[in-house]
Order: sequence, then structure tokens, then C-alpha cells
Amino acid sequence: MSSPAPSTLKEIYPVPAATRENTLCTDKDYETLYQWSVEDPEGFWRRQKDRISWFEDPGLIKNTSFEGDVSIKWFEDGTLNASYNCIDRHLDKHGDEIALIFEGDDPSVDQNVTYRELHGHVCRFANVLKAQGVKKGDRVTIYMPMILDTVYAMLACARIGAVHSVVFGGFSSEAIAGRLDDCQSRFVITTDEGLRGGRKIPLKANVDDAIARLASEFGGSVDKVLVVRHTGGDVAFNADRDVWYHEAAETVDADCPPEPMNAEDPLFILYTSGSTGQPKGVLHTTGGYMVYTSMTHEYIFDYKPGEVYWCTADVGWITGHSYIVYGPLANRATSLVFEGVPSYPDASRFWQIVDKHQVNIFYTAPTAIRALMREGDDLVKKSSRSSLRLLGSVGEPINPEAWNWYHNVVGDARCPIVDTWWQTETGGVLITPLPGATDLKPGSATRPFFGIRPALVDTDGNLLDGATEGNLVMLDSWPGQMRTVYGDHERFIQTYFSTYKGMYFTGDGCRRDEDDYYWITGRVDDVINVSGHRMGTAEIESALVAHDLVSEAAVVGYPHDLKGQGIYAYVTCNAGVEPTDELRKELVKWVRAEIGPIASPDMIQFAPGLPKTRSGKIMRRILRKIAENEFGSLGDTSTLADPSIVDILIENRQNK
Ligand code: WT7
Repeated sequence: MSSPAPSTLKEIYPVPAATRENTLCTDKDYETLYQWSVEDPEGFWRRQKDRISWFEDPGLIKNTSFEGDVSIKWFEDGTLNASYNCIDRHLDKHGDEIALIFEGDDPSVDQNVTYRELHGHVCRFANVLKAQGVKKGDRVTIYMPMILDTVYAMLACARIGAVHSVVFGGFSSEAIAGRLDDCQSRFVITTDEGLRGGRKIPLKANVDDAIARLASEFGGSVDKVLVVRHTGGDVAFNADRDVWYHEAAETVDADCPPEPMNAEDPLFILYTSGSTGQPKGVLHTTGGYMVYTSMTHEYIFDYKPGEVYWCTADVGWITGHSYIVYGPLANRATSLVFEGVPSYPDASRFWQIVDKHQVNIFYTAPTAIRALMREGDDLVKKSSRSSLRLLGSVGEPINPEAWNWYHNVVGDARCPIVDTWWQTETGGVLITPLPGATDLKPGSATRPFFGIRPALVDTDGNLLDGATEGNLVMLDSWPGQMRTVYGDHERFIQTYFSTYKGMYFTGDGCRRDEDDYYWITGRVDDVINVSGHRMGTAEIESALVAHDLVSEAAVVGYPHDLKGQGIYAYVTCNAGVEPTDELRKELVKWVRAEIGPIASPDMIQFAPGLPKTRSGKIMRRILRKIAENEFGSLGDTSTLADPSIVDILIENRQNK
């Protein structure tokens, strides 16, 4: 059976009657609330803060400025604890409800954890951290697979006021070392191994290697490595530094009171790639983040306690932080944690999990949808999926074919799709449909969430009116916004507030149509989006030139059927080095080791030189066109120092 042709795609999908009847927010509610939220943010957020439990209720609501030194503070005189909000406040009446469902990589492994059990696990974990010397404000690096202990570890940090820095389990030891150094983290939590698609991932060994690199490259060290036993695989153990979690847990108390935190105390750091330099430590704080993630989770997924909600992201990314852990648990949701991959044991795994755990709300990325679409409809249709009522998409623009398939085949043309646009920096979703309020247009993230004031500007920063296209900015702050780049506030100002004065620049291009719907067109900076993962081209370039045989490299994105964008690297070798297929393979391996598999170049083109202006600036526009195989539209090449290089690059591209 094949999926319906894209031509069956309609322009507008109205809110289904069944959704409208039982929704938190209709179209009229949306209009009223949105108007209130932008006309009177103080009043609006003063009301909304009450969705969170405060130890000391904030009197001050919003104190934010995008000018000058840029200062963003929300609820600044309030105190609260994120783990209390995710656990303790539910215990009295709802302690026996399911907080987390674990589905293992191995389909025969699963586990339900109630809110009361979650409380026990997190308290014990928190007391182990304390016993190892972790104090309020310390940075704790978490390098773990998608298992429940990872959620316990995050919430345990939050409980005692430590700041977690989760490093995605697919990153290399070099990447871990850089992140340990950047936030001066002296504690690491990991597992013996991870398990994905039946394969073991040597997480503890990667941590060992990272700590060796931390010492040799940065002169740094860590105090303790806490190791959670997961696969039971053999690992090297350094008795002075390494601690088995299960041993430490035996000797600690079962209760740990939550530490009262100021609303503006840091909750976590998460590293993300930008257009220049090394990844930035995006810092999120406590009060505004909890208000914003819980509110967006409830409204966007129209969440009602009792429903099973599944976000397939990894907790190593912001999506996992905000919409597997903090938002859902604050809302007393049942949140599913899946350890494995969509293709194991076969490509029907997602839909089997949906049936097995009766998932109601399913949130995934376009890259996963495209990969599963390729496998054919039969794998989907052999499951019932009758429990599903809402689908979500995140990470990159969703192409019409994928939208259509997601809607018709996965959702049986019954379930609305919320295409949620946001960023690591935004903490939560900013542009999105609300399922009971917004008519859908496939490919559009539709309308701003409450309190969000998007605008489009031209390259000079002039605001553009009406139906048009431009650079996407935000005119005012929202509670979930990042507060700074950890340890480098100047870089925060430079990156986000200097391109257009007084506005937050997202780095995305965007079109707005006649109905005021927003259509994200992709990054306008040197950031590429590979399978919904963000990569800085500069980072991959610096990894490539760190290789002994490479003198120069330039990396651009190009359209890729599955990944959205693929990584295209132009590499100039040192004089006398023979560019061979062998070397190509060696360089791919090298980048994987320097950054991680997600940064592997899809194409490497050896280039005798790169197109540069007379002042030495690489003209990426031209490199992008060549990578895209669009030789006809190269634009003006006359300003190049050596225009002939372009012909050579085109010839080599065509010969590949
Ligand atoms: C970039 C942010 C936010 C969680 C995942 C990615 C792109 C994200 C969408 C969407 C079109 C999207 C943007 C954005 N993006 N969601 N629904 N439609 N583009 O977080 O790694 O910080 O990347 O992802 O380009 O700037 P991130």
C-alpha cells in the first residue's frame, strides 16, 4: 500500500469537532488570552505563575530589557523548587498515578513508576549526590542513555540546587571534555554502557577518555564519577574517583527535602551550536522556565492528567528537558521514556509502543517521520493506534509529504498535528498551533503562543508589515527565555541582541502569510539542521582542520532526503598530500571522534582552494550553490580573488 499522493494535501485543516468539544482553549479563548498576554504581560503572567507551587510567592513579575547589557528576570523575588513542582506537590492526592513509563531498547523490558516511587528514587539520588560532595550551585555533568535513572539524576540535581549539564550520549569524549571545562564541572554521572538498537555504547569508557583529555588539553579534573549500573558490562574503575551508584545509594536516607531556590537561580546549562566558535552553554533558570514549560505543555498538547504522553526526543536535547521531564511532570502527566531507536527490532517499533502503552499524544521529529515513511504504510497499519488523539512535530520545517503521511497514515486523518517551532534558547515552544483553537496549514508552525511577539525584519532591522518574508525576531521577553551564555554574558548579547537592536534574533528566516501564519524557512546563519540536530559549520570546520593533513575546510548544508540537511565539507589538503578515498573515510572517522556521529560529513569534496574575496573571506553562498548542484545561479563571482577556482569546484562536484 502506498501513501496518498501529496496532491491530496489540503491547504487548511480545520479543528476537528471532537477536539473542539473537549479542549482547554478554543479559537475565541486564544484570541482573548493572546491579546491580554501581549497588552498586559505583567497581569497575564501574574495569573499564570499560580500554575506553579511557590515557597515564597513572587511579588515581582517581569523585569526584562533587550537593550544595553540585556537583563532578563522573571518572578525574581519568588522561591520554589523544580523537583518539588514535578513530584512532591502531586503526592497528597495523586501519589499512585503513573509518572513515568519506561520502554527499554529490548521490547520485553518495561516499567511503570508512580509519583510516589519517583519521589523515593529522586530523594535517594539527591542524597547520594550530597554524600559525594555536590553542593547548591555546583555543575553536574550527566552523560547517560535514555533510562529512568537519567530523569532521576536531573531531578535530584534540581532538588538540591545543583545545576545539571546534560551532554547527549551520542557526543564524543572530546565534546564532553570541552563541556566539562567550560562550566568547570567537577561531577559526572554516567552508566556503564548505553543500549541502542541492540548495540552497546561505551559511555563510562567515553567519560574516562574525556577526563584524560580534560587533564591534557585543559589542565582540568573532576572529583567524582557516579556510575549507574545499566547493562552490567565490564568497565574500568578508578577507586579514588569512581563510585557505583547502587553502592552509594545503600547508605543514604530515603528522604531529601527540596532546597528553596530563587526564581532566577540556574536550573540547568545545555550546550548548543552557533554560527561561530565552540558550543555555547545556554543557561536556564528556575521560576520562569517552570511556568513556561508547564503552561506550553498543557496548552499545546491539550494535556489532561491520566493521558499517556510520549515525546521521542533524547533528554540530551532541550526537547527532552522541557517536554519529557519538566513540563509534563509539573503537569502530573504520564510521560513515556524510550531507550531505543525507531528501527529496532524493526521499523514498526514506534507504533507497537503506541499500542502497548496506549499512547494518546505523540511528539516526534520530521526526520523520524521521513525515515519511517520510507519503510511503507504496512508497518504502520498493522498497529491500531486508536489511542492516539494528537500528534506533534519539532526540530525542523516539516515538508508537505511528511505532514500528509503523518496525518493520514499515522493519525488516520483523525489527529491534529501541532508543528511546534522553538529553540534551545527559548526554553519552550514559541510558535505553534493549539489543537482546539488553530486551523492547521501543513508546513506552517502557525501562530505565536501567549506572550510571544514575533516580528519579521529586513537585513537592516526595519520591521516588515503584513504578508512578507524576513528574519524572525522576538520583540519582548517570555518567562522561558535563556538568561545568559554560561560564563560569557558578552557573547549572549553579541549573539542574540546585537544584530537587531532591542530585539532577540532567532537566526531563522520566516514567511508570514495573509492570515498571519508563520512559515519557518530555515536558518539564515552558518548553522545547519541535520535530522533536527543543530550543528555549527564552524565547529565541523575546526574539527577538520585539526587533522594533520588538512590545511583548510569549509562546511555547508545541502538538501538531504532523510536528514533535512546533509553536511557537505570542502577540504583543502596540505601541500603534497594525495586526496584519496581512504583519506575521505579517515576524515569522516576523525570528525566522528572529535564531535560525535551526528557531525559526520555526508560528502567530502577535496578542493585545491576555496572561493575567497580579496580580503580573504570565504564566499559560502557559492559553496552552498555548488553543494546543492545549482550551478546556474552562482551570482556575481567577479569579486573573488581567484574566480577560476569556482570552475574547478563545479567540475569536481559533477564528477562525483
Ligand atoms: C532550530 C533550533 C526546539 C527543539 C529542537 C531544536 C529549527 C525547530 C522547528 C519547526 C521549523 C524548526 C529552527 C530553530 N526548528 N523547530 N517546528 N519548524 N524549524 O532545537 O537544536 O535549538 O534548534 O531548529 O531552525 O532555530 P535547537
